[in-house]
Amino acid sequence: MFRQLKNCHNVEDLRLLAKQRLPGPIFHYIDGAADDEITYRRNTSAFDDCDLVPNVLAGVEDIDMSVSVMGQKLKMPIFCSPTALQRLFHHDGERAVALAAEKYGTMFGVSALGTVTLKEIGDMISTPKLFQFYFHKDRGLNDAMVERAKDAKFNALALTVDTITGGNRERDLYTGFTSPPKLTIKSLLSFAAHPGWALNYFFGEAFELAELKDFVQQGSNVAVSIGDYFAEMLDQSMDWSDAEALRAKWGGPFCLKGIMSVADAKKAVDIGADAIMISNHGGRQLDGSRSPFDQVSEISDAVGDKIDVILDGGIRRGTHVLKAIAAGAKACSGGRMYLYSLAAAGQPGVEKALGNMKTEIERDMKLLGVTNIGQINRDMLRVRR
Ligand code: LAC
Repeated sequence: MFRQLKNCHNVEDLRLLAKQRLPGPIFHYIDGAADDEITYRRNTSAFDDCDLVPNVLAGVEDIDMSVSVMGQKLKMPIFCSPTALQRLFHHDGERAVALAAEKYGTMFGVSALGTVTLKEIGDMISTPKLFQFYFHKDRGLNDAMVERAKDAKFNALALTVDTITGGNRERDLYTGFTSPPKLTIKSLLSFAAHPGWALNYFFGEAFELAELKDFVQQGSNVAVSIGDYFAEMLDQSMDWSDAEALRAKWGGPFCLKGIMSVADAKKAVDIGADAIMISNHGGRQLDGSRSPFDQVSEISDAVGDKIDVILDGGIRRGTHVLKAIAAGAKACSGGRMYLYSLAAAGQPGVEKALGNMKTEIERDMKLLGVTNIGQINRDMLRVRR
């Protein structure tokens, strides 16, 4: 079937369009996950084990789906999680995602492994911006990233805590995916088969990791797998005192991304974090980890009155967002849900993905019988027997 953006009605349609447009190694880097990819699949299928119980006759002509997280007001209850290497997927990369997120009034998470400077993003959009931080061995780099995020007027900082070493991403091992891509006979053949992507990559703006290139060669000029990057460059001694010191150095809204246990959620409260993202890194790190949706109720029951609980991962539908909120999340975030669309069509693609999501959430709230996010509660959710 010949796919076009206008006929993409859901995330899966956009995924297939991305698959059509991208060289195999790049598509599989986005699409793939760790080991047997059980956690990756469960992140989405977990939503199917619960059903919504709607109320009717509720007068639902005006819908307000706004939420507040990390002190930021978002016009929709899902935001763009930070994801790496975006100019590898589409030549506009982070610029496209930034403008689409601004259009929909939601937050844009920018990765430390991003390909456009924080300063440029900061100058480009006025809507909420989250900087995602990796704790590197190089303390000079860590300090510089905090300063640059402050200078670029980012609103919040999220420390990723689930990449202490590289996940076993076997699709990347089969395809030989590295950042930047290695030129081998096999990869050149796959680039030649996707000339639209290849022309932009080879003749457009040079690829680089914008915030890291002055400190490390790996990832910009020296090709490495993402697993090796995590294992070699990040500091495996990182602990709670480092997280607390980073929060103090940053001084603004602070989030831990990759919390899965109630015990860790309580420690996040203890160190003064403002938010946690319940996340297993899209199933890309510890395969066999529980899904965020399966875990959200117990975490929210324990700390939901003290900290913003965000469900990150697996969201493909508006109903998934509503189920997550009914189970106790304050808001949701997702990576692949907009990354496929970035790869498929740049800014119009991301706008399509966010627009589809907004339309679904609005329709689903009406069908559920609620007019604002605060009305969604656990009585509207049943575990299927
Ligand atoms: C990943 C990192 C870079 O590939 O977020 O999962």
